[in-house]
Amino acid sequence: MEIAVQTANPYTVYVERGAAKRLDELCLGYHKVCLVVDQNVYDLYSEELPSLTSETYTFVLPSGESNKNLTQYARLLSYLAANRFDRKDALVALGGGVTGDLTGFAAATYMRGIDWIGVPTTLLSMVDSSVGGKTAVDLAEGKNLVGAFWQPKAVLIDPDYLVSLPEAERKNGMGEVIKYACLMGGDAGKAILAGELPTDRLIAACVQYKADVVKQDELDKGVRATLNLGHTLGHAIEQLSAYSVPHGTAVAMGLGIVARSAYDKGRLNKRDFEAIEIALEELCVPQVPYTIPQLCRQALHDKKVEGSTLHLIDIFGLGDCRIVDIPADRLEDYLC
Ligand code: GLY
Repeated sequence: MEIAVQTANPYTVYVERGAAKRLDELCLGYHKVCLVVDQNVYDLYSEELPSLTSETYTFVLPSGESNKNLTQYARLLSYLAANRFDRKDALVALGGGVTGDLTGFAAATYMRGIDWIGVPTTLLSMVDSSVGGKTAVDLAEGKNLVGAFWQPKAVLIDPDYLVSLPEAERKNGMGEVIKYACLMGGDAGKAILAGELPTDRLIAACVQYKADVVKQDELDKGVRATLNLGHTLGHAIEQLSAYSVPHGTAVAMGLGIVARSAYDKGRLNKRDFEAIEIALEELCVPQVPYTIPQLCRQALHDKKVEGSTLHLIDIFGLGDCRIVDIPADRLEDYLC
């Protein structure tokens, strides 16, 4: 499946078995290519790393969100400079969201911008972070605080990488998948929630939905914010847990709270609420370890708070998620 992402610099997302084989052709025009590979992926696939006709370098990035930082970013930039990479060269990110975000940000900034290609290997990065050009690293003060919009030249999604993905990581990705199912609604959204779509079609449906949103709002000034369904409370859960609750799981928890509130307050009908509940139960999302007041207090620090207004993405039905502006100190009243 080929999905066009119509940004200022358009590109294609390929969802197919063996997608990484396309790298050779895509890299033909570059002198040098640096494969930036997540350590876990390297350990599993070092024998099978794509061999390219371009001069190929391999940079192994330690795994985990704690490494999406300025130190690893600087290490990668120095590696590129030491090996005399220039604007005719390119980076390839082979790994999950951490690898994609950091590689994309290095590509955005090295010599004021060089090309990069994404090869996501986790479900979460396949359905969300690899598409749309948000690149970043974290600071001690918060996630994704330093970044840039920098679209890749192509994204190659090979569902076969998921075979080696730990179950906890699959469930983490499913948090974002359920979010997309709620956003898209319709037959596809319902089929995803009911667990009826095969993995490649599920990934393609999420990517197509995201591509349609990014086409309308590449720089995240309007409708793209709806992709943050579940994120306001999800981020609060991540922060309160010192990031021990992973992102997708926190989003699933946040989505569950918003859906429950929408149902209890009559904004969401029973049939749609139950479809979401069943999908979340299927994931065995753990009990949220914080109270609503704790989460609301933490949410005041969210990037989505502008002055005294918080932009919550609420769910009024499958396929009907809207940005609701709430006075930041009234979030608890709105939810309870
Ligand atoms: N992950 C949400 C976005 O790319 O806007």
